[in-house]
Amino acid sequence: MKKLIVGNWKMFTTTAEAELLVERVDAKVLPTHGSEVVFCPPATALENVKAKLNTLKHKQSYSLGIQNIYDQDEGPFTGEISAAQVKDLVNYAIVGHSERRRIFAERDTEIAKKVAACLRHNITPILCVGETLAEREAGHSKRVVVDQLTVDLGYMTAQELENIVIAYEPVWAIGTGNFAKPDDVREMIGVIRGHIEELYGEIHGAHVRVLYGGSVEPENARSYTRIAGCDGLLVGGASINYIKFSEIINLSHR
Ligand code: 13P
Repeated sequence: MKKLIVGNWKMFTTTAEAELLVERVDAKVLPTHGSEVVFCPPATALENVKAKLNTLKHKQSYSLGIQNIYDQDEGPFTGEISAAQVKDLVNYAIVGHSERRRIFAERDTEIAKKVAACLRHNITPILCVGETLAEREAGHSKRVVVDQLTVDLGYMTAQELENIVIAYEPVWAIGTGNFAKPDDVREMIGVIRGHIEELYGEIHGAHVRVLYGGSVEPENARSYTRIAGCDGLLVGGASINYIKFSEIINLSHR
């Protein structure tokens, strides 16, 4: 299966910078890279980046994602964007990112509704789960991730599992340079697959797409993508650096 390499640009880039960034990544990506690349620019740049992607050499490998969506389709929700509103613009939506959980107090019960909203509109949710440093130090990493998954996937049927991506993003590894050890990532991906298997059956546990995210750089990307069971990467900081991101893409299929 193709690796899925997702760039979460967070609240960086103006629209002009966003267009330039995808253009520059495209110029450095090798024709043989062999991955599916998802760009998640700020919502303000989605439309322009979509138009730009259509003009690029490797356009068939690119998709677009939004960094967050609201759980309702429409209504008096000032400042929010719904899946219904972006369904023609994006294929993916990041849901439950730890920055949203921490800074915007998003709870798993809301995240479950966001996952459902994405699926209602044929958007593939990239569901982020992961433990904090305190939870890890207390020895609770597995339980935290299992509890998050149990609630976050609460409205999902087994058939819908092929339209979801799960990203294991330990909070302590995000933006810190303190990337997770590949052996720990292997173990946690096993925990995630094991739990999906318990909820939905063996086949689904094996087939659901699972990514790693947290301080991914060109120097460590390959140590994750070569883990059996790791289907790709969710990249933050390095994804807004065209040299680093194109290198990560070029390295990932090998
Ligand atoms: P960094 O790659 O900057 O650690 O961010 C990871 C992340 O939060 C991607 O969603």
